Amino acid sequence: MSVTSKRQFTVTRIAGALGAEIGGIDLSAPLDDSSVAEIRGALLEYLAIFFRDQELSASKFLEFARAFGTPIEYPFVRGIDGYPEIIEITKLEHERNNFGGVWHSDTTYLDEPPMGSMLYAVQVPPFGGDTLFANQYLAYEGLSAPMRGILDGLTAVNSSAKADVTKTREDMMREADGRAAQRELLSEHPAVRTHPETGRRALFVNFAHTTHFKGMTTAESTPILDFLFQHQVKPEYTCRFNWRPQSIAFWDNRAAQHNPVNDYHGFRRSMHRITLAGDRPV
Ligand code: SIN
Repeated sequence: MSVTSKRQFTVTRIAGALGAEIGGIDLSAPLDDSSVAEIRGALLEYLAIFFRDQELSASKFLEFARAFGTPIEYPFVRGIDGYPEIIEITKLEHERNNFGGVWHSDTTYLDEPPMGSMLYAVQVPPFGGDTLFANQYLAYEGLSAPMRGILDGLTAVNSSAKADVTKTREDMMREADGRAAQRELLSEHPAVRTHPETGRRALFVNFAHTTHFKGMTTAESTPILDFLFQHQVKPEYTCRFNWRPQSIAFWDNRAAQHNPVNDYHGFRRSMHRITLAGDRPV
């Protein structure tokens, strides 16, 4: 059995805020414990890690994901045949909507939002379709002390039914379970969470799902949220990943947001995605 050794890895940062490309590793081969620990360490340090030229079948992709957590089913989209934990995110040539095409943390309307998610590029457009990521530790640390003090005491309400993000799911929900699509899922989380592994504080509101602060009126919440939605994705907190076929992105959903860029109309982009179970934010 071939086991990937940590000596084979290279880690190359792609931006100042977050993001690193990991090279010299074949993810179709079984990973030993030290390799898994080293990749996990890179995820915690860089928040979004990327691999190139990985030839992975659905079962190998799932095996890779299982080394880092428990794959779970996505609430609104049915998995591919034989693999309920893998969803296909495809934008066809004639479609205009880009699944998840606004800044967000994944499914924060769940009581236990995912610890991370992985995407595997099956087909990419000849240009465009990059994914942006934003570091929410830096976003929190970039606020003034009084603003951090206010947010430290607030609880954010998150919904699956905010209009902007619901629209981005429309094309894919035709394939999905109609009953699930009609449900609104709601959850309350601290506006600033403490990362369970690093202990660092990260801003935990997002444009796609956060509707208001608990106990505040909409009129009170909206100006603060509008400010935060802009602040938390300032260019200096972001990186941009340019896809090639067989690239993988793995991000830490507890401290990073993402946003796929919808700039490739007329071309097909197809990804396989796995979501890993998380815990209740504190
Ligand atoms: C998503 O999972 O939000 C989609 C990301 C992408 O397609 O790049």
